[in-house]
Amino acid sequence: MDNQRQTIQQQSKRCRLVLFPLPLQGHINPMIQLANILHHKGFNISIIHTKYNLPNLSKYPHFTLHLIPDGLSETEASTTDIPLLLKLLNEKCVKPFLDCLARLLSDDADDPIACIITDAVWYFTQAVADNLKIRRIVLRTSSVGSLLAFAALPLLQDMGYLSWKDSEMDTPVVEFPPMKIKDIPTIKTSNSEGPYQIISNMVEQTKKASGLIFNTFKELEESELDKLQEQFLLPTFAIGPFHKYFSASSSSLWTQDRTSISWLDTQAPRSVIYVSFGSVAEMREEKLIEVAWGLANSAQPFLWVVRPGLVNGSEWLEILPKELLEAISRRGYIVKWAPQQEVLSHPATGCFWTHSGWNSTLESICEGVPMICSPFFGDQMVDSRYVNDIWKVGIKLEKGLERFEIESAIRKLMVGKEGEDMRKNIMCLKEKIDLCLKPCGSSYRSLDNLVDFISSFRPPV
Ligand code: UDX
Repeated sequence: MDNQRQTIQQQSKRCRLVLFPLPLQGHINPMIQLANILHHKGFNISIIHTKYNLPNLSKYPHFTLHLIPDGLSETEASTTDIPLLLKLLNEKCVKPFLDCLARLLSDDADDPIACIITDAVWYFTQAVADNLKIRRIVLRTSSVGSLLAFAALPLLQDMGYLSWKDSEMDTPVVEFPPMKIKDIPTIKTSNSEGPYQIISNMVEQTKKASGLIFNTFKELEESELDKLQEQFLLPTFAIGPFHKYFSASSSSLWTQDRTSISWLDTQAPRSVIYVSFGSVAEMREEKLIEVAWGLANSAQPFLWVVRPGLVNGSEWLEILPKELLEAISRRGYIVKWAPQQEVLSHPATGCFWTHSGWNSTLESICEGVPMICSPFFGDQMVDSRYVNDIWKVGIKLEKGLERFEIESAIRKLMVGKEGEDMRKNIMCLKEKIDLCLKPCGSSYRSLDNLVDFISSFRPPV
């Protein structure tokens, strides 16, 4: 590091950053990881968090936590309509967030606040930042490719792509390769404004920010980053994968069942399929049964995370028929929530059947574990297409959750030649990750640029 940069970065030690995670697991994890990275770079960190979905942050005594009321009623807080929840949060948190930030700013003489860093989905925070004359940097917790797809929705709508029939779902979106119509990141909601208003707010308010941080790395999404630069016209920092800077994260909203690791210890190397569909996906009862039969018939050992609530209205496994539970118990181990990063880095794990949430996708690439993809909504549709068609590190289940396709994909990936090729491809990406985080690597340099950028906001005191 040259002297001038070192001096600027030392001055940054006196600056405080205020971070505001979106209170959903897939957004909390990367924001807390980012907070840790920036703290390590010398910034003081304040976290503003809603009371809703507050994770246990006791492992982070170096952060100052400010809780704000979110105004959600009990019914609102328990909704499974995520777009509706996000709309409500963006309306109800305006005043509490504004009050909290104004208080912090009025009190920052000895510890100046350089900027706020908020999740892209907290679109209301741009107006608050403008109002209080503080810069806002956005963290987009998903892939660059999926943000481009979200930004293209109005165009795709104008071209008629959002009203195609079921029989046309495999038609390519020629303007947006490699996407097919079924990959367009749609979201179902009962929100009266429809699903696209939230997405459009997120995109438009992100464009007004001072900078944009991604949990990705240049070698993975180089052409997408170039396209984004043309469309968004703001400094962009691809500094991921965040979770590789420090050991496994502990901002989990649920207790991670560590017996998964002792069970994996008893299994042969690279023999286990790890199955998890993240923190918000939901499926119908008959689909859970298809998943279970697919796994039972695959003749491979598996570790399956069945999150309570995965099937709306069910407690846990009671909906699986007895004979199926018996078939499963011969080879499988089921938990409610797992220490996912440790599971993926365990030598027994050979494949990850995932919903293609961005954290899961990156965590799998980092450990060189090829994937089977069953996207449910939104960015997952795009990420799974990239896994299958561009990076060629996994198989997307094109028919949805159907036992014969599941069995066949597992066989292809675990024992077939295709699986061997995908393993090679993913190991190649894993090596690129190891390099991008080393001094002079792309993420390492981008992080230094981000630190310089933030440090330039406030004159040294
Ligand atoms: C949500 C969206 O669904 C996703 O599409 C978007 O990219 C981010 O927000 P989620 O469904 O929770 O996220 O998926 P994902 O992004 O994969 O994040 C899940 C996180 O929970 C990961 O960091 C994973 O390691 C962790 N996890 C998951 C566990 O710790 N234990 C588990 O059993 C499962």
